[in-house]
Formats: sequence, structure tokens, C-alpha cells
Amino acid sequence: MTETVKIELYANHLGITQAIASRLAQIVTEGTIILLEGNLGSGKTTFMQSFGRALGISTTITSPTFTLIDEYTEGRLPLYHIDLYRLEPSQVPSLHLEEYWRGKDFPLGVVAIEWASKLPNVPLNYLKIDLSVPTRSPSNEQPKNPENLDLLLDEDFLEDFPDDRIIQLIAQGAQYVELLKQFQTAK
Ligand SMILES: Nc1ncnc2c1ncn2[C@@H]1O[C@H](COP(=O)(O)OP(=O)(O)O)[C@@H](O)[C@H]1O
Ligand SMILES: [Mg+2]
Repeated sequence: MTETVKIELYANHLGITQAIASRLAQIVTEGTIILLEGNLGSGKTTFMQSFGRALGISTTITSPTFTLIDEYTEGRLPLYHIDLYRLEPSQVPSLHLEEYWRGKDFPLGVVAIEWASKLPNVPLNYLKIDLSVPTRSPSNEQPKNPENLDLLLDEDFLEDFPDDRIIQLIAQGAQYVELLKQFQTAK
């Protein structure tokens, strides 16, 4: 039976997301598969930018929404950064993504796939990273001061794009469960 372990982290601002990504980059090994999920703007590409920097990639990592696949070979491990946003699941098999984790035609590295929910065939083992903006109900908003309504309007406007995220790390398979254990003890 395959092992699954899930941990949920709270990033109260961008720097925490970046620190989580950097820590993960320090412990990944050849052949690691990372599946990134979360809505537009949840932070998948942002996560990969810090991850890439911590792998030793000095080229700025950009969103592969249009290029589909970007390869970076200057870091500690090759990084294959993929974005399936523009594809239908039926178009994904023609990309032959499995070539990136077979280790024959490409040197083994880290394969990171944004919009991984579009994969028609999910790899057997992986680390899934699910980013989301916490939902806010009126009960967990700041108490409102009824005498200061004008000010309140401005604040509400600014809060339309919050800076906090829930980050779930889900390990599927013994090797990824071990990776998560290391992640939790890494300095
Ligand atoms: N805590 C946070 N974690 C990640 N991104 C954040 C956070 N706070 C604000 N942001 C911002 O949210 C946006 C995420 O965009 P992006 O990474 O392109 O999302 P995605 O690739 O998931 O569509 C960026 O502008 C980033 O600076
Ligand atoms: Mg993106």
C-alpha cells in the first residue's frame, strides 16, 4: 500500500511562501516530481521562483503558461518547469512528460508541474503542493467601527488581494513521505 502524508502550513505573507520553497529546494533529489495546484494567482509560479533560486538557478524563472515547458540546467539539479493551464487534459499525453522522470532522454532533475490537476495520468509517487487563499467569512474579519465607514471602504479595497496563503504539502509514496520528514526537520 502506498503511504500518504499531508501537512498544512500557513504563510501569513509572501516571505513565508518563499522560505518554504527554498527549504524544499535544499532537500529535493534527482527525479523528484512536484505537482502544483491552486487557482490563478494562488502563488504556484511565485513558489517556483524561490525554489529555483535556492536550487542555484540565477536566470529569473517566469511563468511557462505560453512556453508550456521551461528547462533550467544551471542549478544543483536540472529543473523542468511545466504549466498545463492552457491545455485540455486530452492534449497532455502528447507532451510526453514522463520523459522528464524516466532519466533516459533528459538528465534526471526536478519536474514541477503547475495545474497538475489536468494530468490525465498522475505519476505513482509525487509531492503535491496545493496553494490557496484562505476564505474569509464576516465572523473572522476585523471588528468594524461603524463611525469610520469611509476609512473602512479603503481598507476593504486593499484587502481584495490578501498576502496570506494556505500551503498543503501532500506526499504520495515512501520516498516523498521521507522528503516531508526531512522538510520538517531541516534548518
Ligand atoms: N503569501 C504569498 N504566497 C504566494 N504569493 C503571494 C503571497 N502573497 C502575495 N502573493 C502574490 O500573489 C501572486 C501569485 O501569482 P503567481 O505566482 O503568478 O500565481 P499562479 O502561478 O498560481 O497563478 C504574486 O503576485 C505574489 O507576489
Ligand atoms: Mg503560474
